[in-house]
Amino acid sequence: TGHFTYDPGYGSTASTKSAITYIDGDQGVLLYRGYPIEQLAEKSNFLEVSYLLLNGELPNKAQFESFEHDITHHTMMHEAQKNFFQGFHHDAHPMAMLAAAVASLSAFYHDDLNVDDPADRKMAAIRLIAKMPTIAAACFRYSIGWPVRYPRNNLEYVTRFLHMMFEVPSEPLTLNPVAAKALDLLFILHADHEQNASTSTVRLVGSTGANPYASIAAGITALWGPAHGGANEAVLKQLEEIGTPDNVEKAVLRAKDKNDSFRLMGFGHRVYKNFDPRAKIIREMCHKVLAELGVNDPLLEVAMKLEEAALKDDYFVERKLYPNVDFYSGIIYKALGIPTEMFTVMFAIARTSGWIAHWIEQHETPGSRIGRPRQIYTGADVRDYTPTAKR
Ligand code: CMC
Repeated sequence: TGHFTYDPGYGSTASTKSAITYIDGDQGVLLYRGYPIEQLAEKSNFLEVSYLLLNGELPNKAQFESFEHDITHHTMMHEAQKNFFQGFHHDAHPMAMLAAAVASLSAFYHDDLNVDDPADRKMAAIRLIAKMPTIAAACFRYSIGWPVRYPRNNLEYVTRFLHMMFEVPSEPLTLNPVAAKALDLLFILHADHEQNASTSTVRLVGSTGANPYASIAAGITALWGPAHGGANEAVLKQLEEIGTPDNVEKAVLRAKDKNDSFRLMGFGHRVYKNFDPRAKIIREMCHKVLAELGVNDPLLEVAMKLEEAALKDDYFVERKLYPNVDFYSGIIYKALGIPTEMFTVMFAIARTSGWIAHWIEQHETPGSRIGRPRQIYTGADVRDYTPTAKR
């Protein structure tokens, strides 16, 4: 038995205090360290936002340069980590490789893993933010059989990543600046989201004293699920299945059918019950990016029709189900040439800054203790063991 508050899915339990991100789900407000997401999306960049999440304040010029210098000098993977990739089957899902490769960082950098030492914690944060794009690009290139590209440290964060993804030695990559800007913006929007499932996972693992790489690897596995970060991949697959605007009504009918487990992916959110401010920004950007890149993707039309049909349907209105951050992001990733299976990896690169900021905050908070939820026991009463022959 036990006398505990029953709160399945933690709908009303604050598991921690935190000063990093604020969400007002009824008003559709999202603030990083007090700054509205709309302003950061318009004026900041992903590295600056990462600094903000980690340190609590926007950097001045010297602080930003020093942070960027530190990140840039830790972008490489250990050469032996390339061999680690060789062990995977060629069709391994990039998220499977990413989770394993990030966990393996604790085997490569185990000399400064004292979680109680602020300098060690900072080092881990720098390494993770710096290496994530390198590892992510390696996952992609391994999956298509291309040799790994080393990071070009004369480029800035997002451009460097796109080079590692797509550059072929014989053909220098000409990048449309719109592509880098779009990806940078998506990274800003995904950088943190208070105590979501993956961040709570990082904190739960972190609460045991586990090292930062192991903690973040756990966050990556939590993010993978289609109810969470895996939704961006699921959205695109669903839009492809729906195929044409004519089939949208059928999909909406299925989503409403309680005897059918089919859900509209990219719809609904535990906290946002009015709209998801990130979705609003992404929706606008999606049209702009496709136009500027000259991409004409029929899936955009399907997505718009689906949104329109759902938003005027009582089922979705009553349950306050609106498009979330993942609804339009996939169409942008696709326009940038990023394959569907890499979408959740993109999310993971961005969320790494949030995860590590929470992990650091947890270790800086005096009196933090191990996360140890209780339960309401529903099993058998005490009983005596019976020998096999008597069962
Ligand atoms: N399509 C159809 N019905 C839905 C949907 C949907 N996408 N989402 C929720 N519902 C219904 C659900 O069936 C339930 O109906 P009823 O009250 O009749 O039983 C009601 O709405 C409440 O849903 P819930 O599952 O209790 O809500 P939750 O807060 O536990 O789940 C969610 C939130 C995001 C997991 C859920 O809305 C969902 O599965 N959405 C699709 C997956 C998705 O897009 N996830 C990305 C979330 S945002 C970014 C991120 O976290 O990575």
